[in-house]
Amino acid sequence: MLGRLNHVAIAVPDMEAGAAVYRDLLGAHVSDKVAQPDHGVSTVFIELPNTKIELLEPLGEGSPIAKFLERNPNGGIHHVCYEVDDIIAARDRLVAEGAHILGDGEPKIGAHGKPVLFLHPKDFCGTLVELEQA
Ligand code: CO
Repeated sequence: MLGRLNHVAIAVPDMEAGAAVYRDLLGAHVSDKVAQPDHGVSTVFIELPNTKIELLEPLGEGSPIAKFLERNPNGGIHHVCYEVDDIIAARDRLVAEGAHILGDGEPKIGAHGKPVLFLHPKDFCGTLVELEQA
């Protein structure tokens, strides 16, 4: 069911500082910051040869990453995103196996314009998992 690792997401308290680490210290190609108001975050993508890093900064009131940053004030790995060929089939299979989907269980359009779902960490080795339609 799982395809490629699409990205690893890192929550940061300060996007300019986080982007500078990847651009200036690590010498990576860093995108411009994009507001994702539907998701309560701003994102920067860092293109690597085999995958991407997604930096997340809180946007607006009640950002879904606000509590994570309270617990991890320096930032930290927030989720991993795997590609699936058919996100509805993947969801239905996981739900049938008793796994928990966050939110209302319906895919939302994610940062790349493709449908995404988030899976509850308690069912996935303590890791928040994003599935993205390939
Ligand atoms: Co993501």
